[in-house]
Amino acid sequence: MAVMRARRSTLAVPGSNPRMLDKARGLATDALFLDLEDAVSPLVKDQARHNVIAAALEGGYGDRVLSVRVNAMDSKWFRDDITRVINEAGSVIDCIMVPKMQTAAQLVQVDQLIAELEAANGLEIGALGLEIQIEDALGLVNVETIAAASDRLESLIFGPADFMASINMKSLVVGEQPSGYTEGDAFHYVLMRLLVAGRAFGKQVIDGPYLGIRDLDGLRRAAQRSASLGFDGKWVLHPDQVDIVNEIFSPSQADYDHAELILDAYDFHTSASGGARGAVMLGDEMIDEASRKMALVISSKGRAAGLQRTSTFNSEN
Ligand code: GLV
Ligand code: MG
Repeated sequence: MAVMRARRSTLAVPGSNPRMLDKARGLATDALFLDLEDAVSPLVKDQARHNVIAAALEGGYGDRVLSVRVNAMDSKWFRDDITRVINEAGSVIDCIMVPKMQTAAQLVQVDQLIAELEAANGLEIGALGLEIQIEDALGLVNVETIAAASDRLESLIFGPADFMASINMKSLVVGEQPSGYTEGDAFHYVLMRLLVAGRAFGKQVIDGPYLGIRDLDGLRRAAQRSASLGFDGKWVLHPDQVDIVNEIFSPSQADYDHAELILDAYDFHTSASGGARGAVMLGDEMIDEASRKMALVISSKGRAAGLQRTSTFNSEN
């Protein structure tokens, strides 16, 4: 089963830019990926591969989730990317990220290739996690079978730039609503479909980049939309985006405290000493097993975000 790691913010780091590979060490995102794909010009793919492997081996990225995004499976770089990255840096990275995933059969193929490379390098089979991007119409049509196809799959990531191009959406501002679409959210269907597929098969679901790096209000609105639906996090491209995204994808202190209280109250009241009851009162609120499940989601996000409780449960209340 895939590991649930904190991924409120995922920093995209172009592999061809040594300065950014270095600067990424000091940014407070939960996760980051060193990119060999679209942030790297075709002319410098080899150099980027070299830089990314060297940066991963040098380390300094802390205990954040460290991934490498390889080129798409139908590109001429894919095989060399994945082989060289796992052979040379497989023991120091957490995940491989594969863009433009379109079918479950492709995902199974990547999964098997990773397993072969793990075995060849003396790594435990399943040690490396997998993250994939859904970023075109075919990928979205198949997202449910893709989500179910691999145990090592940890997250489904929406790729708005490629997706907007794939469906001919009439906008060039990535992550923003197309002009002329005045009712609702043009991305609602896509986001919801990804989220449901991810939740059905226990995967994290991550929103992609907001390219207007100077428009922090726009970023806030876009992040708030996917966070409210239940997404686990969002990509960031610039240091100014980090704190906003971390904050929006963390539970509030009040929600975190409340969730911990529900868990304690429910544990106490359902235990033999607490009366072995099923539905119980917490203050004016009736809580039951479903409330416990909802509280568990918020409490694990809060713990992952490093929140501390500011109130404690008292069985006398
Ligand atoms: C990210 O890869 C995107 O296409 O938005
Ligand atoms: Mg893309």
